[in-house]
Amino acid sequence: MAASRLEAPVAAPPTCDPHAAPVRSSPAPRTTVACYDFWDRVFRRAGVLDYTEGFYDGDPTVPYQQAQRAQLDYLLDAVDCHAGSRVLDIGCGNGELLARARSRGALGTGVTISPEQVQHCVGQGLDVYLLNYRDIPDSWNGRFDAVVLNGPIEHFVQATDALSGRADAIYHELFGICHRVLDPQSSSRQVVNTTIHFDRFQSDPGEAVRSPWSFPWFSDKFHYALLVEGFGGYYPQLGQFERCARPYFQLTAERDATYDYHLTSEEWLRHGMRSLVSPRQWGRLLPFAVRHPLHTTTMMFLLLVSQSWNWQFRGEHPPMKHLWQTWSYLPALAASP
Ligand SMILES: C[S@@+](CC[C@H](N)C(=O)[O-])C[C@H]1O[C@@H](n2cnc3c(N)ncnc32)[C@H](O)[C@@H]1O
Repeated sequence: MAASRLEAPVAAPPTCDPHAAPVRSSPAPRTTVACYDFWDRVFRRAGVLDYTEGFYDGDPTVPYQQAQRAQLDYLLDAVDCHAGSRVLDIGCGNGELLARARSRGALGTGVTISPEQVQHCVGQGLDVYLLNYRDIPDSWNGRFDAVVLNGPIEHFVQATDALSGRADAIYHELFGICHRVLDPQSSSRQVVNTTIHFDRFQSDPGEAVRSPWSFPWFSDKFHYALLVEGFGGYYPQLGQFERCARPYFQLTAERDATYDYHLTSEEWLRHGMRSLVSPRQWGRLLPFAVRHPLHTTTMMFLLLVSQSWNWQFRGEHPPMKHLWQTWSYLPALAASP
């Protein structure tokens, strides 16, 4: 199979074919890998394990950790995860959802492009691989009852892809991968994703690849170009996934989680501000800063000074909309060659 725990390919996950040949995983965009290197140092090592929003259900007084657990439960319920369910978590981060699935008696497998996250997950006894989702091998076909994508899709299309008209094809391929790994005989066969979409702010991909400093400072275009520079990736348009999911999946449920991401991001910002006075945090960051001085400066600036991450979800009509979407498997294709 295609996965590797760290740099080298290793044995297959127990849920998959243990005898399949190892295949190399193609590299993910460097910016995305570097951004999680940064995130893992600054947030994970400081105890912030979830890299997506909590579920507040409109109540800002819900404690942060409770909201995070509620989000995991929402997603697992959406794909009908129960004892014995086989769940694939694409972009599994630090394995919080996989651990929650395990507590239900489910069998989880995760993939991520961050070696630090793999190391952390494997240390928790989770079945996680260093693997670009595009390289999920054929030996995993039909092995799962459900697929979860909690926050990775924003990294899958680059602004240069959008510029050259390849975005739809990349999303279509993603839905095709989700379709082939699902067991056609399973009674669940659901996919759930949480993804930030353009809404009030509409980006021109040609502008998104320009230097943020070529735009008026703290303008919408400045914020978005800074996010692209820091995190990599390019967001989808509203409705784009419905178009690209055909003929593999049909959208069955959708929830607007923009306010949930707003509350979570403000909590992250408070955490980041507190970290500024922590010598321990600076110690964690130093090796990364020495290797990636420019990226460190960009991330610190966009998180704490321009607050471009938070800009996305602020205001009465925020620039971005965050959606939780559940998809049902369309079996028609299972019969086709
Ligand atoms: C915003 S984080 C979300 C992590 C986790 N799902 C959570 O909720 O905390 C995005 C995740 O997607 C992973 N990722 C990004 N690009 C990927 C790719 N091409 N293949 C697999 N995973 C990827 C990152 O390593 C990271 O774990």
